[in-house]
Amino acid sequence: MRKFLIAGNWKMNGGDQFTFDLLSFINNQKPAISEDVDVLVCPNFVSLSMAINQLSKSDILLGAQNVHEAEKGAYTGEISASMLVEAGCSFVLLGHSERRAYYNEDDTLVHKKLQTVLRHELAPVVCVGELLDERKESRHFEVVKTQTLAAFEGLTDEQAFQVVIAYEPVWAIGTGETASPIQAQEMHAFIRSILAKQFGEVANAIRILYGGSMKPANAHQLLSQPDVDGGLIGGASLDAKSFVSIIEIAESLTNTVREADSPTTLEEH
Ligand code: 13P
Repeated sequence: MRKFLIAGNWKMNGGDQFTFDLLSFINNQKPAISEDVDVLVCPNFVSLSMAINQLSKSDILLGAQNVHEAEKGAYTGEISASMLVEAGCSFVLLGHSERRAYYNEDDTLVHKKLQTVLRHELAPVVCVGELLDERKESRHFEVVKTQTLAAFEGLTDEQAFQVVIAYEPVWAIGTGETASPIQAQEMHAFIRSILAKQFGEVANAIRILYGGSMKPANAHQLLSQPDVDGGLIGGASLDAKSFVSIIEIAESLTNTVREADSPTTLEEH
């Protein structure tokens, strides 16, 4: 059974004071987290050390929002994977749609970053997802397949096992519009079927998160889907109460039998 991962992507929404306040609120409201759920927060780079201090007595994990593909060198303004490990990160987001859209990150670069990250004690969260026009043109499966195959190209089973995928339909990010549970499940099962072709049984152990306007009101339905293994949450993770509610929803679902143990639908699109 895959363990839920509830991750907050705080994007560029606040510095040390914000990080301190938000983590204090979360820790106060949720002093203990069930062993069946992983919780992750991804603040901005400069607040990672503030965050790790705040998290020293907490089960919450720390992640970064981006990383450079090189190990080190003359890359002014960039941050390497080893720096993130040193700062206390155990996860890093890769290829978020905002990075793809505003910083020209393409599949080749995301793959390079993934390979770099896998050489360190860091788990990559690779973001994939289609634009609104691509969905309207019924190209969403093709787009997500291309992104997924490019990211996982040439990985060993062991490496693939370390990777988390976040399916984030771009039209659902920050818009208040969420993929329906059926749309999310359909895409998550499709992603798993692509991974199963390359990695066999390992695909059943890879966590696939949903991202795009997840909030307490829709989290239960989304997280109940058999192939939805957690959430990558933007807006709702900036509010301690909402974020904690989503964690609690995930906790409440760990004792229910999601259909995750049933065989994955091997759909071809
Ligand atoms: P929202 O939850 O604000 O839609 O953002 C999702 C996201 O981009 C998380 O990475």
